Amino acid sequence: MSTQVLEEMVQGGFEEVLALHDRKSGLRAFLAIHDTSVGPAFGGIRRFGYLDEGQALMDVLRLSKAMTHKCALAGLPAGGAKLVLLDSPELDVLEAYRYIGKRVDELAGRFYTGPDVGTGPEELSAVAEKTRFVTDPGVAGPGDLAGATADGVFAGIAATLRQLDGEEDWGRRKIVIQGLGGVGERLARRLVEVGAQVVGADIDIERAERVGRELLIETVDPSREFGVECDLFAPCAMGGIIHDVAIKRLRTRAVAGAANNVLARIGHGDQLHSKGILYAPDFAINSGALIRGALFHLNGQRESTGEIESRIGAAITEILGQAAALDLPPARVALREAERRINMRRSSAQTPPILST
Ligand code: NAI
Repeated sequence: MSTQVLEEMVQGGFEEVLALHDRKSGLRAFLAIHDTSVGPAFGGIRRFGYLDEGQALMDVLRLSKAMTHKCALAGLPAGGAKLVLLDSPELDVLEAYRYIGKRVDELAGRFYTGPDVGTGPEELSAVAEKTRFVTDPGVAGPGDLAGATADGVFAGIAATLRQLDGEEDWGRRKIVIQGLGGVGERLARRLVEVGAQVVGADIDIERAERVGRELLIETVDPSREFGVECDLFAPCAMGGIIHDVAIKRLRTRAVAGAANNVLARIGHGDQLHSKGILYAPDFAINSGALIRGALFHLNGQRESTGEIESRIGAAITEILGQAAALDLPPARVALREAERRINMRRSSAQTPPILST
C-alpha cells in the first residue's frame, strides 16, 4: 500500500480507510468511508481483477468520494463509501461476501452496501446472511436498482436534449448506447418506447445480438460506437472512456450515461465543452439506484419511477442551465455545486434542499 494514504485522506477529506484480509476466504479488500457528516455512508461492493493493490486503493478512494458528491447533488441525508474486493482465481467468492457482511455489521449502520461491478444478487444474498445493512436483492428490498438508474438516466437525457434544442423530439433522435448490461438494456428499451433510434454496442457480442434482436435496434462492433454520428452518446459500460482519443473520434452533440467516472480526467470535460459537446455529469445523472436504495433504508419508502425521474431531470436541467449561463463546462459546475453543499453540510451538519425543487 502507498505510504501516502493518510495524506490522500487529508487532501480528499476522507474519514476512514480499512484494509481487510480474511484467511479463510482469501479476501483482500479496501473499504473507504468518505463522509458521514449528515448521515450514513452508502456505497456498493466492486469486485475486480485489479493489477495491484495500489490500483485498488486509488479506485476505492475515487469511487467513495464520488458517492459523496452524488448524495450531495441528490439532496440525500447520506454520504459516500465504497468497498473494493481484489478478485483472484483463489478467492472463495461467497465466503468472502459473508465475511464482508460480518464486517459491515460491525459498523452498525455507519455504512450501507449494495451492488456494483462484479457484485450481483447472489453475492448480496451472501452479505445479507450476516447483516441487514445491505440492499436486499429480493422482494424485501427497495425494488429494481438498475431500473432506477436507467429511469434517472432517461430523464437526464431528456433534460440534455431540451438544453440542446428546447425539446426532446424523440422521433428524430439517434442515440448510441455503449454497454447493453443491466442499465444499458433498460435504457435502450425506454428510448425505443418513445420512438428514438437507438444504436448499441457491447463487448459481450452474444448479449449485444440478443438485445438487438429483442428491441429491434442496430448494433455495432465494440469500439465502433465512438464513430457513429448521433445526437447523444450514452456511456453505460465502464468509467474513464472519455479521453483524448475518444474525444477525437466522437461524432455526437452530447454525452450522458450511467457509467461512473466517465471522464478519464476532469480536463476532458473541458475538452468536450470547447468542442461544443454538451456533457451531463455522471454523478448527477446516475444516482437513481442510490436515491431508491438510500430512501428505502433511511425512510422505509420505495421511491417511484416518476419521483426519481423528476429529481434527476431537475438536477440536470439546473446544472446545464447554470453551465450555459456562465459558459463553463458542466462537469466543473456540478463539482463546484457538490463541494459547496458538502462544505455546508460539514459546517452545519444540515441537509441542503434538493437542487431546483
Ligand atoms: P453491467 O455489468 O450489468 O453492464 C455493463 C455492460 O457493459 C456489460 O454488458 C459489459 O459487457 C459491457 N461492457 C464492458 N466494457 C465495455 C466496453 N468497453 N464497450 C462496450 N461494452 C462494454 O453494469 P450496469 O449495472 O449496467 O452498470 C453500467 C455502468 O453504470 C457501470 O459503469 C456502473 O458502475 C454504472 N452505474 C450502475 C448503476 C446501477 O444501478 N447498476 C448505478 C450507478 C452507476
